[in-house]
Amino acid sequence: MASENDQKSSTVKASPTKSFFVDMLTRDIELEDAILDLLDNCIDGIQRTIKNSPPSDNPYEKFWAKLTFSSESFTIEDNCGGIPRDVAQDYAFRMGRPNNNVDNDLYTIGTYGIGMKRSIFKMGRASEVISKTEKDSFKVTIYPDWLTDDMNWDLPFELIEPDLKENGTSIKITDLHPSIINAFSSPQSILHNSLVSKISHYYSYIIHKGFTVSINEVKVTPEPLKLLWDGANQIDGQNIAPYLYEMEKDGVEIKLAIGFYRPTASEEEVDDEMAGNRRTSETAGWTIVCNDRVVLYCDKTRLTGWGEEKVPSYHPQFIAISGVVYFRSPDARKLPITTTKRGIDASSDIYLYVKDFMREGLKTFTSYTNKWKGNHVEEKQRAEKAQLVAPSELFARIPDDKWTKVKNKTSKSERKYIPSLPVPEPQNGEVSKKNIRFSRPLKEIKIVADYLFEDSDREPSEVGNECFEKILREAMQ
Ligand SMILES: Nc1ncnc2c1ncn2[C@@H]1O[C@H](COP(=O)(O)OP(=O)(O)OP(=O)(O)O)[C@@H](O)[C@H]1O
Ligand SMILES: [Mg+2]
Repeated sequence: MASENDQKSSTVKASPTKSFFVDMLTRDIELEDAILDLLDNCIDGIQRTIKNSPPSDNPYEKFWAKLTFSSESFTIEDNCGGIPRDVAQDYAFRMGRPNNNVDNDLYTIGTYGIGMKRSIFKMGRASEVISKTEKDSFKVTIYPDWLTDDMNWDLPFELIEPDLKENGTSIKITDLHPSIINAFSSPQSILHNSLVSKISHYYSYIIHKGFTVSINEVKVTPEPLKLLWDGANQIDGQNIAPYLYEMEKDGVEIKLAIGFYRPTASEEEVDDEMAGNRRTSETAGWTIVCNDRVVLYCDKTRLTGWGEEKVPSYHPQFIAISGVVYFRSPDARKLPITTTKRGIDASSDIYLYVKDFMREGLKTFTSYTNKWKGNHVEEKQRAEKAQLVAPSELFARIPDDKWTKVKNKTSKSERKYIPSLPVPEPQNGEVSKKNIRFSRPLKEIKIVADYLFEDSDREPSEVGNECFEKILREAMQ
């Protein structure tokens, strides 16, 4: 009789091991990004909850997520609708999406089916997930022994008496890894600060539209972008406004806005930036938003068109230029984002297509900055008269006849608005203006600033200019 070993055909083991998922998945993700993955799930929960609600300016109002951590545990609790029982039993706790047709027609960002698990294993070896929906309340437990048992992939699921006040989810992670205990140990840790900063940037649009996030009971405030617009007193050829572009293609909606969010930099400011004495540059550059989540924040590299083709590389002189591109799609796979969702997939076709317009917009404002370089004071006064408006509002404010069609456009809705930015006065072929530059001790500048403006913090260039104007008026009398 042939023994088992002599059989011609049998099977070999090809099943995954848990340590593969646990060690591999968690290696390449930063702790902060793993935490943001949990927050992404809350926002996706909101999208499912509000899918039949009428459009609103504050769709995320009334929804919240509370994050708390200590050297013992990490908890995230939300009121974002909860995990439906069948989703929890069939899919939510599996590694990877069994099929990719979940959440069709929703502006969600979940794609791979790993975020929540990766996040849990990044932090600890045990977890309790409690969820409450309209219909059920349940608890799923992950325990340390489960992690080492490759034969059994199922997790205990228990229907419970409602524990949460609202429909939502609570994920508590315990048995933390030593490195995580370290990071969570002090409430005002480096981690705490960088998490607050990341959330205020990456979720600024959602928080701005009503969502509340708190970390260890402190509310995170958003930092949304607004751009200068003086269109209310619009004279053609003489107005500060952003460059805008919009289109919809293959189920992806795109809106792009770039302009100034403050007056252009004075020479002193540029010098200070170069010397590293100021850090106002941080808010300049491109921000990219996919389904309301910021995936790239204030980028100033070739990734977003700086230093490519005719666009100069970033320099503190361009400190006032800021832009944003919004991508929206009910199919998250069409968005140009990386697998960690905190980065742009720079080789995606849709992104490369839009990048041409990003460069055109950038060039409009770098050229303007160069043209006005010698007239900072005049430029500043002009910028001070303009209002700061949210990019989303600007699309509605520019009248239809001011938009231009895009050459070889690829979709019906594609159009752009190129502002006619003010041009410095013609100089009759001769150089009629010269810069006057000198330095004085800061103390003296402050004294003169206080004397002239009753404000000792005025920019030195303004103080110098006003001294000149005053004497000029006297000289011309
Ligand atoms: N806070 C939550 N509220 C509601 N549902 C949730 C929440 N957290 C997780 N879920 C459910 O669990 C599922 C699995 O989450 P997980 O983050 O692991 O994968 P995903 O979001 O589908 O994809 P990705 O790996 O791209 O994040 C989600 O699709 C969602 O249905
Ligand atoms: Mg997710």
